[in-house]
Amino acid sequence: MKISLPSNSKMHTKEFTFGVATASFQIEGAADTRLPCIWDTFCATAGKIRDGSDGKHACEHVALFKDDVQLIESLGVDAYRLSISWPRVIKQDGSLNQQGVDFYINLIDELNSRGIKVYATLYHWDLPQHIEDQGGWLNRQTAYLFADYADKITQALGDKVYSYATLNEPFCSSYLGYEVGVHAPGLASKAFGRQSAHHLLLAHGLALKVIQQNCPNALNGIVLNFTPCYPLTDTDADIKAAQTADDYFNQWYMKPIMDGEYPAIIHDFDDADKPDIQAGDMEIIKQPLDFLGINFYTRAVYSTCDKNEFVQVDMKDAPKTDIGWEIYPSAFTDLLTSLNSTYTLPPVYITENGAAMDDKIVNNQVDDLDRLEYYQAHLNAVNNAINQGVNVVGYFAWSLMDNFEWAEGYLKRFGIVYVDYQTQQRTIKRSGLAYRDFISQRQ
Ligand code: FCB
Repeated sequence: MKISLPSNSKMHTKEFTFGVATASFQIEGAADTRLPCIWDTFCATAGKIRDGSDGKHACEHVALFKDDVQLIESLGVDAYRLSISWPRVIKQDGSLNQQGVDFYINLIDELNSRGIKVYATLYHWDLPQHIEDQGGWLNRQTAYLFADYADKITQALGDKVYSYATLNEPFCSSYLGYEVGVHAPGLASKAFGRQSAHHLLLAHGLALKVIQQNCPNALNGIVLNFTPCYPLTDTDADIKAAQTADDYFNQWYMKPIMDGEYPAIIHDFDDADKPDIQAGDMEIIKQPLDFLGINFYTRAVYSTCDKNEFVQVDMKDAPKTDIGWEIYPSAFTDLLTSLNSTYTLPPVYITENGAAMDDKIVNNQVDDLDRLEYYQAHLNAVNNAINQGVNVVGYFAWSLMDNFEWAEGYLKRFGIVYVDYQTQQRTIKRSGLAYRDFISQRQ
């Protein structure tokens, strides 16, 4: 079984960028050579991580980065999306930690010397703990600290990096971390969720300005995740539930960046839940983007109860991945075309897409045909969106290799490369081999 697309597909050309993605906390390990972050604390709190694990060792990527770059090269990808660990490169006094910066310089040089373009995200959820101790994303000052970190690290790395993204998925940082508390730092109130979201978006705007000044030749933007919302039935109530959920979970992050305002549902909030927005904030947030990164995994279905509420419905008989996310590729096409008709989009990269599957390694092989099928269906979905006029210019598989999957610990495997956490041996799965072959056949 192979991955293929119609031979006239734009994705079948070398102009289209194919890559693999990871994030610092999920793979790096070497926790003792950086400052503690909110995920270290969260992992150390009983009951937060399903297998009780942490990121102290993960994939030991700091020690094994040269081998990992060879592995990336062997997949034939054009690009590698990584994230920079804020607590590895900035000291508690705010100055650069040169040892940490050197790790990234060596890694990036190694990638560039093999012709692999580097797409770096500056914040993939690993907030230094000492900043959380001052209120974290609930404290407006954190947005300014982020811009300062962005300034220093982009000056240090400069044009070695092909593309900078400010944040990865501010929805997860704010909603999962501060509103429902299933991610670090584990706080739970609607007001916290909305306030942290605003400070994250402000951080994005402040940082993007600085990055554009420091690295005008790099492609600079942000990565947002979207879970398209569908009504369970075509009743007005269900349609309204799905629209409200979409505004709350998806457009909440997109609309401020593109249009400089929050979705209108903000006016329905109790005053206590409304974020504190200061004069000029929305203008700062609405920075022009060189690219928009979109992460897509699944859809969600909504039904309503009473009032302005929305209730997510579990699609019991639908096909799902090992993490319980419904497999529904046409939502990917719908998402891209609807964003394209709602907003004036910059070039779009799919910065994450992939599937957790219950992999078994037998005789050094992982026959993950289920993941391979997921990739095939979702690449088709992206291709369909391109055919309908969406300017998608790149696609990154999540993930290069199995890694620490946040609250799921090491129980869920998203890699196209299998990791044996005891020996740190990497084995390219059948899906990884198919991705490699597909990429190599481009014209
Ligand atoms: C995304 C995260 C990424 C990974 C995937 C499965 O929300 O950005 O780190 O965990 O989900």
